[in-house]
Amino acid sequence: MARSLQCRLIIAAVALTAIAPVTSEPALQVVQISTTPNAFTAPPRGWNSFGIQANPETTPNFSFNQTGVTSQCDVLADTTALKDAGYVYCSLDSGWSVGGNGDEYGRIIYDSSIFDIPSLAEHLHGEGLLLGIYVVPGAFIADEEKTILGTDVTIGSVCSGDNGLARCNFDYSQSAVQQWHNSVVNQFASWGVDLIKLDYVTPGSPSNGANLPPDSSGEVIAYHRAIAQSGREMRLDISWKLDRSQEYFDIWESNADSMRTDQDINNGGQPTFVSWETVQRAIDNYRQYITTVMQYNKDLTIYPDMDNLFVGNPASISGVTDDERQTIMTHWIGAGANLIIGSDLTNLDDFGLNLLTNANAMAAADFTAQHPMQPRNPGTGNNSSEQLQAWIAGPDTSGTAIVVIVNYGPDQGQGGFGTSLSGTHTVNVSWDDLGINGTFNVRDIWADEDLGTESSGFSVRLDEGQSVLYELAP
Ligand SMILES: *[C@@H]1O[C@H](CO)[C@@H](O)[C@H](O)[C@H]1NC(C)=O
Ligand SMILES: *[C@@H]1O[C@H](CO)[C@@H](O)[C@H](O)[C@H]1NC(C)=O
Ligand SMILES: *[C@@H]1O[C@H](CO)[C@@H](O)[C@H](O)[C@H]1NC(C)=O
Ligand SMILES: *[C@@H]1O[C@H](CO)[C@@H](O)[C@H](O)[C@H]1NC(C)=O
Ligand SMILES: *[C@@H]1O[C@H](CO)[C@@H](O)[C@H](O)[C@H]1NC(C)=O
Ligand SMILES: *[C@@H]1O[C@H](CO)[C@@H](O)[C@H](O)[C@H]1NC(C)=O
Repeated sequence: MARSLQCRLIIAAVALTAIAPVTSEPALQVVQISTTPNAFTAPPRGWNSFGIQANPETTPNFSFNQTGVTSQCDVLADTTALKDAGYVYCSLDSGWSVGGNGDEYGRIIYDSSIFDIPSLAEHLHGEGLLLGIYVVPGAFIADEEKTILGTDVTIGSVCSGDNGLARCNFDYSQSAVQQWHNSVVNQFASWGVDLIKLDYVTPGSPSNGANLPPDSSGEVIAYHRAIAQSGREMRLDISWKLDRSQEYFDIWESNADSMRTDQDINNGGQPTFVSWETVQRAIDNYRQYITTVMQYNKDLTIYPDMDNLFVGNPASISGVTDDERQTIMTHWIGAGANLIIGSDLTNLDDFGLNLLTNANAMAAADFTAQHPMQPRNPGTGNNSSEQLQAWIAGPDTSGTAIVVIVNYGPDQGQGGFGTSLSGTHTVNVSWDDLGINGTFNVRDIWADEDLGTESSGFSVRLDEGQSVLYELAP
């Protein structure tokens, strides 16, 4: 089923003269993302180890230790295109720290049999890269007798129970709990940490197999305050599939820089990284996320995290076709999502490297970092789930917009649209559908091709899994 880019059957920019000028389609509500709680104005770009940890057969020579991580992240520094595109974060997932206890104050410590975090940070910083680490809520049950640094309070007096991750649940109303977070984050700062991924946050984190308390949102607030007092710039990424009610979304977007919108997307334990079925689910979760949170607020202060990008390796290892790889990259860009690669960086193919670094696409990502896309269905302009879908990001104040048009192929069970139109289809998208008007110069971003001027809409022929990424300039 692999289809080459050259064979793509796209008839673009056929004007739709039949579209009526008067419409009852909903008015476009432009969504923005402005400065996040820790003062970032774009989502992070880099690499995270989890995809390879969860799918070790994809990357047979990898060991999750300092040698293995360095060999991956050095590729970010040594590949000019990746460096120039800003892929600077080297982010360790679960397993870098001691799993059952902390130091004499109950602070999180690295597993020195596999990592020396200060020396890893120094190595990365020397290459112009940044270090990310991974934590989960709570202090260790084994540390309940220990005294929190700078206090005379024991961990056991402010933390109780068992969350299933060898940790107790904090009572966030106790001020010593903030002191514990400050001590942990100050130590991270002294090591040179630049990003904290906080996993297993509730409400959210469904089907987790742990015994999580119903509400650990206080952990997100505590990490944010700890970062603020540490004096070091760090991002806070929270995980996974976080609750989207207004009550909790207000907490997430006031304290974290990015939040996961779905569960993990990798093919745990398989010889490939991801499947198209799961990608359909992840994209539908972004649709649900953006259409929900834009009801609360059109000026957001948090980036969506759609999980790792598995687009860098050949189709046989990525687990999706080249068209699907491009459609994944297009959606992560369109959403203004974290661009954190999960692929084996030592085995990128030319197609994957171009997807990750293409200058036009990176410029589109800079645009969507301010204006994330929202769904506008062909024919109605509504925002429900459809197999043949259109999305618009912007327009910005200059009138420029980014448009994504896609054929997701048959719903494989989790896509939310429930249809199974096989083969190639023409997707007709009018300006009314998109909620815009006027005349635009249309540019195909991936093909780097000018498609001329349009004043009412266009039709695109797309096979299963194919999409286009257009810039519309007035
Ligand atoms: C793994 O390492 C061995 C020895 O360095 C090398 O010959 C082999 O090509 C590597 N395999 C992959 C998939 O990189
Ligand atoms: C990482 O694991 C590999 C394979 O087991 C080993 O050769 C290497 O010495 C390890 N490096 C560190 C720093 O533990
Ligand atoms: C979009 O979705 C939201 C929530 O799913 C709904 O409340 C809203 O009315 C929808 N808007 C449009 C324009 O269809
Ligand atoms: C959007 O339009 C489609 C028809 O094109 C309809 O089936 C669907 O119910 C509509 N969704 C909403 C939320 O109005
Ligand atoms: C798009 O327009 C073409 C030509 O007018 C038409 O044949 C086709 O059925 C339309 N596609 C959809 C999905 O409405
Ligand atoms: C055309 O679009 C502009 C902004 O994009 C908007 O202010 C205006 O109301 C729209 N006009 C019509 C007729 O929809």
